[in-house]
Amino acid sequence: MNIEKLETTAHKIVSPGRGILAADESTGTIKKRFDQIGVESTEANRNGYREMLFRTPGFGDHISGVILYDEQFRAKARDGSPLISLIADADSVPGIKVDAGAKDQALFPGEKVTEGLDGLSKRMAEYAALGAGFAKWRAVIDIADGVPTRGNIVANAHALARYAAICQEHGVVPIVEPEVLMDGGHDIDRCFEVTEAVLNEVYDQLYLANVRLEGTLLKPNMVIAGKKSAKQASVAEVAEKTVACLKRTVPAAVPGIVFLSGGQSEEEATAHLDAMNKIGNLPWALSFSYGRALQQAALKAWGGKDENWSAAQRAFAHRARMNGLAAKGEWSEGLEKAA
Ligand code: 13P
Repeated sequence: MNIEKLETTAHKIVSPGRGILAADESTGTIKKRFDQIGVESTEANRNGYREMLFRTPGFGDHISGVILYDEQFRAKARDGSPLISLIADADSVPGIKVDAGAKDQALFPGEKVTEGLDGLSKRMAEYAALGAGFAKWRAVIDIADGVPTRGNIVANAHALARYAAICQEHGVVPIVEPEVLMDGGHDIDRCFEVTEAVLNEVYDQLYLANVRLEGTLLKPNMVIAGKKSAKQASVAEVAEKTVACLKRTVPAAVPGIVFLSGGQSEEEATAHLDAMNKIGNLPWALSFSYGRALQQAALKAWGGKDENWSAAQRAFAHRARMNGLAAKGEWSEGLEKAA
């Protein structure tokens, strides 16, 4: 294992004011996003939309890494250059989603475990040779009555650790993503309790799997009330509880934590990240690895039309800049509105 290379990549991804664009929507998920704007999900549209994003002027100013799905990882831009070279040319690191999705866990009604370990070492070797600097594996933990169970948390954490070890063996930084979903009606304290249990198990399993934490990044949910809860928490409470939960569970050897947005609005995701960084004095860098919260405005502005590239790129650049400021605790609502 080349730990220096892993550390260099991990630190580059969380360099000040930069974070990750999660553009790794699977073919099924991007179809849902395109359906919302009335665009057909053809291969040309799937690639063209990503090419538009990656060609945004100043792309690398705030985007240090991009997570891609297998199709885009191998795809070419219209002029024939690989999409991953557009990313690398902008001083950003190409990454690859390698899990095979969350599937029903046998004998655990209502719970899912992420699959994809079979043959992963061989696939990882190929992605590394093609230029992947990092990878992502997402585990999904739901909150409901009696859920999650300990058996489900352990199964997901174990798979994440096996995946992370395979990444490191191939010189690829593992993004470890245990997502506690915000879909339910639970309050913020229940989210805290579940997130704490999940992260404790994840770091136990990473230790057992011999994973070197200095060459990893964590991609967690924020500690937040469920979408259907009548008791929504303030920005300050989300920030305080998320930081408190992470301090209890995430070792200081981890270089950075890059949050998922998980269904928050674009501005909420930015405000929460900013409030956490304003707390300051944290052992790890706190940044973003947003999918929806970086793309909503851009997707709408694009609408599937070439003539809208500039408008969509402006919308994307604005979101990237706002999140870059939030990653340094320098964002404000005033800056948001001034744009
Ligand atoms: P969201 O920010 O839309 O949650 O997507 C991030 C991601 O990569 C989920 O796996």
